[in-house]
Order: sequence, then C-alpha cells, then structure tokens
Amino acid sequence: MNDGGGTLAAGSQGRKSGPLGTALVIIPTYNEAENIKAIVGRVRKAVPEAHVLVADDNSPDGTGKLADELAAADDHVQVLHRKGKEGLGAAYLAGFRWGMEHGYGVLVEMDADGSHQPEELPRLLTALKGADLVLGSRWVPGGRVVNWPKSREFISRGGSLYSRMALDLPLRDITGGFRAFRRETLEGLGLEEVASQGYCFQVDLARRAVKAGYHVVEVPITFVERELGDSKMSKDILVEALWRVTAWGVGERVGKVLGRADDNKPGRPRAGKGVPAEEPVRETTADAGRSEP
Ligand code: GDD
Ligand code: MN
Repeated sequence: MNDGGGTLAAGSQGRKSGPLGTALVIIPTYNEAENIKAIVGRVRKAVPEAHVLVADDNSPDGTGKLADELAAADDHVQVLHRKGKEGLGAAYLAGFRWGMEHGYGVLVEMDADGSHQPEELPRLLTALKGADLVLGSRWVPGGRVVNWPKSREFISRGGSLYSRMALDLPLRDITGGFRAFRRETLEGLGLEEVASQGYCFQVDLARRAVKAGYHVVEVPITFVERELGDSKMSKDILVEALWRVTAWGVGERVGKVLGRADDNKPGRPRAGKGVPAEEPVRETTADAGRSEP
C-alpha cells in the first residue's frame, strides 16, 4: 500500500526533523455525490504523490459508490465504507486508524465540498516539515473566507474565540478542518479517549496537541463556501461543541486549583512518544506556509 514513493524530505528547522513519509488525505463524506469526483481529482493533481481515503458514512445519495468508481480507476484512492452517519469525529478516527495501520507518515484532514483547496495543501505540507501539526487557518493574517454567510463567520470566529479563551490556547482557528498531522503527533494525542462526535472534534484535537506540548503552526488558507450540496452543520453540533468546550475549560481550571492539572492533561505523550510535556509550546506562526522557496 504505502510504497514510500513521494516522500517529503524534512527541513532542519522545528522540533521535528525526520522525513515525513507518504501523506494520506482523508476526506469524510456524507451526501457529497456532487463534489466527490472534483475534490479527489483536485487532490490527485495538486499533490500527485499523496494518497486519498474517502471515509463515507453510507451516504444515501450514493457518494460511496462514486468513490468506489474513483478507487477502481486509481491505485492512490481508497474508500472506507462506514455503516451509517456517526459524525465527523468518528469518521476521522476510523480514517486515522486505517492510515496508521497502513503505514502513512502524514495524515491530512480535508472537507469534500471544495471549501478547502487542495492547491493549498503543498503549503501545509511544507510547514509540517518544521512542525508537529499544521492547521489551515482562516483567522490569521493572509487567511480568509469567500462567500460565507455572515452568520456562519460569526459562529466560527466566536467558536474559535470562546475555545481560545476557555481552553487557553494560542491559536486563532481552532474549529477548522484543513490540517496535516505527523503520525507521531496523532499517536501522542490519546485518540482512544476522544468522544467528540461533531465539529468540536477539531477543537478537541487542537487542544490535545497544544496541551501535550506539540509544536502547532497555523498557515493561512482561503476557505471557499461550497457551491453544491448542503452543509451538515446543525444545532446538535453547535450544542455539543458548546458544552464540551465549557466542560474542558472548567475541568482544566478545577485541575489547576487542585494542583494536579498536569495529571489530567489529555493525550500527554507516553514515554518515548511525542515531545516531553515540559517543553514550552512555541508561539504559533501565522505565516509559516509562506516560506516556501
Ligand atoms: N463521514 C462523515 N460523517 N462525514 C461528514 C459528517 C458525518 O457525520 N458530517 C459532515 N461530514 C463531512 C462533509 O461531507 C464534508 O466533507 C465535511 O465533513 C465538512 O462538512 P460540512 O457540512 O461541509 O461543514 P461546514 O462547511 O458546515 O463546516 C466547516 O466549518 C466547520 C467549523 O469551522 C468545516 O470546515 C468543518 O470541518 C469545520 O469544523
Ligand atoms: Mn462545508
């Protein structure tokens, strides 16, 4: 499966400097029949050495079957068929597990609807040479959103601001879903404990990475609102995010007051994995992705 082709050499800067290995771009789908072919084609063109895994929740509109057709025609494309709609978090956890079992060195998160532009992925991967986790960010200088209703922008900016303050995170776009992880980073996040189902899964992973001491870098991206199909954002997803972020924030503060915050940190790297939690987290660098030669 992972032939090691197209490995990305790592630079000398940053905490991690080992070779990155082959990237697997995980695309979760629920009713994305109108988008799946175009997005997979764009990824294959933008980063030909990367592999693609479509994680479909048995979409009623036949997305899974279309993905199978793409996979049959291209050995760089695979499909993970899931039994039903279980949320973004569960789909990504299954995709990460599959990717790690198959030996990929980099696991990428990307939406199916064209909001995340595959043409920007090389910048994320370049930044990952000097980082443990790279977040595509709408809310750092150079980042932006196109055609997003003001109401959605308000919810997203508000969600990031609330998460930043409640969880004391030095990040600007905490809810975004265009990210590149080193596999070693994922191995140190305690994924087996992750219970987040909806989009707060993204906050959960960002929080775990920062608290575990990983070097998290934000790279500006242009997020383009989908032209086809519907967003799966719902009131349930918002409510889950609100209560979980609040509970994490309260839990951290209580832990600090009781003087045992360090014992309660999520995903502390186990011995030999990741980075010692004692090391300070570096300030995030908004323009890391611009340094491509
Ligand atoms: N397998 C699976 N199961 N995929 C899902 C599910 C699910 O239950 N729910 C959503 N998806 C997929 C969609 O098919 C799409 O590929 C991607 O997840 C994002 O879903 P959208 O419905 O397009 O999300 P959005 O545009 O409203 O939300 C964006 O902003 C959120 C908040 O910032 C995305 O970038 C999210 O990742 C982000 O958290
Ligand atoms: Mn979308």
